[in-house]
Amino acid sequence: MSKPLSGKTALVTGSGRGLGRLMAERLADRGANIIIHDREWAAPSQYGEAQDLEAVEKDFKRFGVQTLAVTGNIGDAEAVAAMKKTIDAEMGQVDILVNCAGGDIGAAGGKPVPNNALDIPLEDVQALTNNNLIGTITVCKAFIPPMRDRNSGIVVNIGSVAGQFGVSEGAIYAILKAAVAHYTRCLAKELQEHGVRVNCVSPGPSKTARFQATRTVSPEMMNSNKPSLLRYAEPGEIADAVAFLTSDEAKFINGQVLCVDGGLVNFPS
Ligand SMILES: NC(=O)c1ccc[n+]([C@@H]2O[C@H](COP(=O)([O-])OP(=O)(O)OC[C@H]3O[C@@H](n4cnc5c(N)ncnc54)[C@H](O)[C@@H]3O)[C@@H](O)[C@H]2O)c1
Repeated sequence: MSKPLSGKTALVTGSGRGLGRLMAERLADRGANIIIHDREWAAPSQYGEAQDLEAVEKDFKRFGVQTLAVTGNIGDAEAVAAMKKTIDAEMGQVDILVNCAGGDIGAAGGKPVPNNALDIPLEDVQALTNNNLIGTITVCKAFIPPMRDRNSGIVVNIGSVAGQFGVSEGAIYAILKAAVAHYTRCLAKELQEHGVRVNCVSPGPSKTARFQATRTVSPEMMNSNKPSLLRYAEPGEIADAVAFLTSDEAKFINGQVLCVDGGLVNFPS
């Protein structure tokens, strides 16, 4: 039976684990062939989500779609070019690009210490910039020109509510996510006449394995059954928004930044 995204191919960067994996699952459930990507083959094991990309790819068999798993540092143009060569050869054109890879991940792999605007080590600023902004731009530069040539394609970038108001902890990450949001608007303008839609989903704090492993979480905010919207997001709630923006129901939505945060950005304290 044909599904809404049957015949389409989606690349979701950082889909070996966390939010990206859920986003890739949503698109596969709608019939898209999926390119699963992460920085390293073992990235899914870092917070205990899966053994490696092979295990993740195997799990996608339940959707009955074509899959390919690739690795590459998105902040390294040569690695992205090598990834594209493999994808071109094995999957053909990419119709949907979701730039999810990123996070408040510094040079040593975890959160920078200190992590404010003035005391953060410069090597962490560089690593954060590569992981979030340069990486997103590099993947766009590689995969969007063929969409522009075909006058068809869909792009969703992943920002963060941290990029929408001033923060002290995680300041550089927040600045870079603000830049991803504005890059989205500029890209949407550039591609408007070519029929390629570009939007950004800006998640609020979401209960991924890395999120829970790298901070002190509030037990109250972890409660998914709260009647109020004062809680962390379920990863699937972020993935649902991405799936919506890739759907035909969103075909006239372009250049937008959609906060999926229970209202947090409007009432930050
Ligand atoms: N979890 C949250 O609370 C939250 C909130 C707002 C925004 N976000 C954003 O959502 C995205 C996913 O976050 P998550 O919580 O699922 O984290 P995660 O660490 O589970 O997933 C991020 C993925 O990106 C990959 N990645 C990071 N840098 C990379 C690089 N340079 N090259 C290739 N891959 C790279 C990681 O290996 C990982 O697989 C990130 O962009 C993050 O900034 C998360």
